[in-house]
Amino acid sequence: MTVPTRRTHDLLILGSGLAGLRAAVEAARAGRGELDLAIMAKTQLVRAHSVCAEGGTAAVLRPEEGDSLAQHAFDTVKGSDFLADQDVVVRFVEEIPREIVLLENWGIPWSRREDGRIDQRPFGGHSFPRAVFAADKTGFFEMHTLYDTLQRYAGQITQYEDLMATSLLVEEGRFSGVLALDLVRGEFVVLLAKALIIATGGACRIYGFTTYSHTVTGDGMALAYRAGLGLKDMEFVQFHPTGLVPSGVLITEAARGEGGYLVNNRGERFMKDYAAKMMELAPRDIVARAEMREIEEGRGFGEPQGLGYVLLDLRHLGPDKINERLPLIREVAIKFAGKDPIEEPIPIRPAAHYSMGGIHADINGATEVPGVWAAGEVSCLSLHGANRLGSNSTAECLVWGRITGEAAARWAQKEKRAREPRRETIAGEMERVMRLFSARGKENPFALRQELRQVMDQKAGVFREEKGLEEGLGAIRQLKERFGRVGLADKSLVYNTELVGVLELENMLDLAELIVAGALARKESRGGHARRDHPARDDQNFLCHTLARKGPKGPEFSYLPVTITSWPPEERKY
Ligand code: FUM
Repeated sequence: MTVPTRRTHDLLILGSGLAGLRAAVEAARAGRGELDLAIMAKTQLVRAHSVCAEGGTAAVLRPEEGDSLAQHAFDTVKGSDFLADQDVVVRFVEEIPREIVLLENWGIPWSRREDGRIDQRPFGGHSFPRAVFAADKTGFFEMHTLYDTLQRYAGQITQYEDLMATSLLVEEGRFSGVLALDLVRGEFVVLLAKALIIATGGACRIYGFTTYSHTVTGDGMALAYRAGLGLKDMEFVQFHPTGLVPSGVLITEAARGEGGYLVNNRGERFMKDYAAKMMELAPRDIVARAEMREIEEGRGFGEPQGLGYVLLDLRHLGPDKINERLPLIREVAIKFAGKDPIEEPIPIRPAAHYSMGGIHADINGATEVPGVWAAGEVSCLSLHGANRLGSNSTAECLVWGRITGEAAARWAQKEKRAREPRRETIAGEMERVMRLFSARGKENPFALRQELRQVMDQKAGVFREEKGLEEGLGAIRQLKERFGRVGLADKSLVYNTELVGVLELENMLDLAELIVAGALARKESRGGHARRDHPARDDQNFLCHTLARKGPKGPEFSYLPVTITSWPPEERKY
């Protein structure tokens, strides 16, 4: 095995979505030209999944019109089914308005009102129209604004593309660096750093029907888990109510924010039976369950056991509004479902959309390992608890991108030098990857990936129950066992996408096991975790966070208290 190339930086940022780019900009600002920074991604930097964020970023901008920080905080806590840590929520709502103005200063083309002020639109679970947006391409514009801003600091930051991280180097609880595969050169690279920010996004590509890009396979979470860090609340997966059938491409909640209706096969706006006040703008967990009930009880379209669906009707909005405010989803519906929403309703159903769980981190995004932070969807602070409100995610990326970027830069300024990992640690990790590369087994990794996604769709979807979860866990463990017998056809290390697929599959299998085992253990229904056999929330036994660690035989669970400062749990009515 060849000796890996070594590179040393002060601060390394793993992942280049909204949280990663925001962290990079802030670290460069805080470092004042004294720090050697690096950002790396397994794709090109601007191809991170954040470009697919559509509908908006929540922030209180208009107290004079009736909105307030307290109301944003309460909406978030209630949306979370009271599992959010309330100190984290309060910090979040206080910090996000400043980020909106910063992006404005950096040149983002926010959609505007007639009077020229920044516009805001309604979003599910929010009691005030507070999603700031750029048509229905908000993530795209946010990403490009941050990427452009980062180029001002180009001399301070090395930008690595096509670099797949394979391991975090953590020994005796101390971080030293990241081992990665340089996909273009086909060689290993050891990136040493005093500090690390993990910002690699969520894990929902372990599902088949999902709004995620194919690249978002939970890599940062899995790397952290294998390195001994705790993952929190992984059983909470969000299903977005409007995944376009049959592809799963996101149809933004803004379509309902702008006034779209959900309709069953009787032509009824069925949300009247589930959330009479907020209707289509109830939080996502409630709307997703309502859709599934309609489909299962025969009021949907298509196959109830397959990709049964209901309809999203936008026709009454008219062509002008659709073309101005929702141009992307019109294009997507035409291209991927052959339906023009100006002329006909479009088929949608719940799609896996967001990991509420992630790397256990404190209110500052600091993980349990000194010098390592986590920001954005990969982290669990916990801001979203059991169910995230739409438009709070891009907002979280901006807020904790800033917080972690600054904190990690300060840390890197104080630390003398990056730690030196043991040679055996690096060699052991390289060997693990090379074993996969040279495996001659009969199992096809792409078939295993397909099977995993079917298991997750069928056994750990919107509704769960003991038997299905047990079957799911058994199936995942069998897949893990079969993973030991995969074989690769591509024998080159240069841009070996088959090897990338195998590394991603290893990550996804670990996370799937955690999600399903955590869901089995949580015998209640809360937010995005709906158990048919335990339909009520159980604050007596489960008002707590799940913390999972990798044990010798699989995940080991313990539980942490929820921080409740102002809003004790109450019944959620919408
Ligand atoms: O529907 C959407 O535009 C998604 C937004 C979000 O997940 O926050």
